[in-house]
Amino acid sequence: MSKKWDWGKFVNSTKNRKPTGLLIEAVSLLESCDSKKGKALDLGCGAGVDARFLFQKGYDVVAVDSCKCCVEETSKDKEENIKIVHKDIIDFNIDSNVYQIIVAWNSLQFLNDKDFKKVLKNIQNSIIKDGVFVFSFLGTEDSWANKHPEMSFSSKEEIKEALNEMKIIKIVEEKQNKAGATGKVKFWHLIRGIAKKG
Ligand SMILES: C[S@@+](CC[C@H](N)C(=O)[O-])C[C@H]1O[C@@H](n2cnc3c(N)ncnc32)[C@H](O)[C@@H]1O
Repeated sequence: MSKKWDWGKFVNSTKNRKPTGLLIEAVSLLESCDSKKGKALDLGCGAGVDARFLFQKGYDVVAVDSCKCCVEETSKDKEENIKIVHKDIIDFNIDSNVYQIIVAWNSLQFLNDKDFKKVLKNIQNSIIKDGVFVFSFLGTEDSWANKHPEMSFSSKEEIKEALNEMKIIKIVEEKQNKAGATGKVKFWHLIRGIAKKG
């Protein structure tokens, strides 16, 4: 990934945030199906909030991030047994038929279009039957779309199409001017949801 992103400030401002709402929902969905806790993967874990939540919920968690400060923050609690992989998502082998839950929250948009689609394919291949994928991506109307041609911006239809091996349980779109995690205001077009493997 591009070296121009400095995640230090992001880590400081998000390390005490609550776990992602859609992730909490997805875990409840799995719990309501009485499924035994299996493996979970957080791609682009940032400060590790969601990875930690999954660990506390009883999953065997792997967290991947290419940023050193993110990996350090995620690994700070020695009591937690989260497997932290300091790697680019593109170089991480997402094995087939392994994970009960995968979360990619605001991370895959930093990949180019080709890699974005490839990783979405691998994710679908990697989720076991009845497992879930929790995602947040940037939409085509996002104000970064013109500034960052190296990133991926998708329409809701494109995301549904890219996730066609799964059933979309929920997909929500948000378009508004607001401050991001580091306080900078911009126009956000966010597409977020939960997909389930049949
Ligand atoms: C906006 S942050 C989101 C972090 C976390 N998922 C959250 O919601 O708090 C994006 C994260 O993705 C990571 N990231 C971006 N591109 C990546 C790549 N190609 N490989 C691994 N990590 C990547 C960054 O280092 C950063 O931690």
